[in-house]
Amino acid sequence: MENNLVYRRKGIILAGGLGSRLFPITSVVSKQLLPVYDKPMIFYPLSTLMLSGIRDILIITTEKDNNLFRDLFGNGNQLGISIKYQIQSEPRGIAEAFIIAEKFIDQEPVALILGDNLFYGDGIIDLLSKANKNKNSTIFAYQVKNPKRYGVVEFDKNSKVISIKEKPKKPKTNFAITGLYYYDNSVVEKAKQILPSKRGELEISDLNSLYLKENTLNVELFGRGMAWLDTGTFDSLNEASAFIKTIENRQGLKVGCPEEVAWRKGWIRNQDLVALAKPLAKSGYGEYLISLLD
Ligand code: TTP
Repeated sequence: MENNLVYRRKGIILAGGLGSRLFPITSVVSKQLLPVYDKPMIFYPLSTLMLSGIRDILIITTEKDNNLFRDLFGNGNQLGISIKYQIQSEPRGIAEAFIIAEKFIDQEPVALILGDNLFYGDGIIDLLSKANKNKNSTIFAYQVKNPKRYGVVEFDKNSKVISIKEKPKKPKTNFAITGLYYYDNSVVEKAKQILPSKRGELEISDLNSLYLKENTLNVELFGRGMAWLDTGTFDSLNEASAFIKTIENRQGLKVGCPEEVAWRKGWIRNQDLVALAKPLAKSGYGEYLISLLD
């Protein structure tokens, strides 16, 4: 399907940051490499981008962790995709990703996903494919109990979004913007216009506000049947692991398995899947990949 597109949207996984809410664990290892049940956290956002049909992917990490991610994925050919790597030397904000990735993005539209965000639910593939095909920009809002930690959406009487405020003290709604953003190619120029906030970051909410002002931003709502989890604290990490374990054990299917996505998309062949499975035989992960062929 994605071959019919006149453009080939690029994908970025932002996997830098300090991970300070998970110290001391993350004082030596990247948060995005920690396990969420049976696989490294970054497998989930990678699978999400792949499910939406994106095959050109850039992973942005801290300098100290960059080689670990390279060891994990290489150039991505084994998954029928291309993976490149860049460094964010300091966590200067999510919107900085687009400045770092300017050459990689080139003339194409782009999707960004946060390396610690996990999306799961029926209908998500259709929503993401739709966002991928839409020439305008799309972001997603999701109802949460405590919206203060996020960018929060305000609607007018006709459900039209009128503002997005970053970490407001008094949120106007319970709808938070999730860490998955589809933008047109003007995002690089827009990111360059933003000034650092009081906390010294290029805020993604400021970038979204620029699009809102232009009237070119679709804000889609994820329904309550969807799960959006971030995994940045001990509790949320533990809850995400329990959630994945419950679903996987019940269904016998894996969530966030990039090898499976590549194979289902037809980007790798049966024998490629078998080759990927072999070194993973002992953990059960490899067995799962082989079982897909039955
Ligand atoms: P956060 O959870 O906001 O920050 P963090 O990962 O550094 O964790 P902590 O608050 O505990 O110190 O980041 C969300 C995601 O975005 C996470 O995957 C890291 C990534 N990120 C960057 O890579 N660079 C940045 O400048 C920021 C702000 C986030």
